[in-house]
Amino acid sequence: MPESWGEPEWLCASADLRECGDAVMFEVLENGLSVSAFAVRFRSVAVAYLNRCAHLPAQMDWQPGRFWDVEGRYIVCAMHGALYDPPDGRCVLGPCRGAHLTAITLTEKDGQVYWYPSQHLQPVF
Ligand code: FES
Repeated sequence: MPESWGEPEWLCASADLRECGDAVMFEVLENGLSVSAFAVRFRSVAVAYLNRCAHLPAQMDWQPGRFWDVEGRYIVCAMHGALYDPPDGRCVLGPCRGAHLTAITLTEKDGQVYWYPSQHLQPVF
């Protein structure tokens, strides 16, 4: 789990993250630059990553907010087909096998989802 810096930021209602459904997209500042991030739910757990493939610095969704392979088992990069394991963002198949997506720590409380800023990832104001 990445080291947390600062107060959690509200992201969405828990109900907005359906099991293997469309992602909730959001923006974060990475070292001062605005970058795309996404949250999805897999096996009841909400996870979030930067929308940036570990192979090349490309956004991964094949349509806006669509990240799942046909079986809803892996997060897939639309560019060259890398498959990522949702719980930890590790590439299990593809040109960047063994590399990881950049994780964003989430928490859920009282039906709401929050993300934690880190040393490198800050909220966009
Ligand atoms: S850019 Fe994602 S697999 Fe190549």
